[in-house]
Amino acid sequence: MSQKREAAPSRRLSAVSLAAIGLGLMMAAGTSQADNHTGKMELSHGSLIGATCMGCHGSKGMGSGNIPRLAGVPQAVTAGKLMAYKSDALEGTVMNRIAKGYTDEEIQAVAEFFANQ
Ligand code: HEC
Repeated sequence: MSQKREAAPSRRLSAVSLAAIGLGLMMAAGTSQADNHTGKMELSHGSLIGATCMGCHGSKGMGSGNIPRLAGVPQAVTAGKLMAYKSDALEGTVMNRIAKGYTDEEIQAVAEFFANQ
């Protein structure tokens, strides 16, 4: 029953979101595609990955509330913890899922980035 009620509005909504996505793609193509020869985001840069961590770990990984500081922590320590989260040897709340999203190389790169903050 609830499915029936939602069907019509969501069809209308998806037409709107498709238009929005189309517009977004056109804008992205106009602004940032020129200098991007692969069309893929370059994830090997520790700073780019690191930026995704800062919402929780604070600006530059300085720590925030109960969330531990990453800035200035030796690369081997951060990388070791991330690898442990990735393999579930260490149990966290969110870090296991986050660590599984990165290759070993990306973990080394982001750990190096924070070690140098
Ligand atoms: C959604 C919030 C969030 C994001 C995003 C996040 N973290 Fe975490 N991080 C945590 C929390 C919370 C902990 C404590 C362990 C747990 O609960 O998973 C933690 C713990 C850690 C630890 C262990 C630190 C210690 O001293 O024990 C490392 C290393 C770490 N995070 C690295 C990262 C890196 C690198 C990124 C980005 C790729 C990242 N985190 C993204 C929330 C986050």
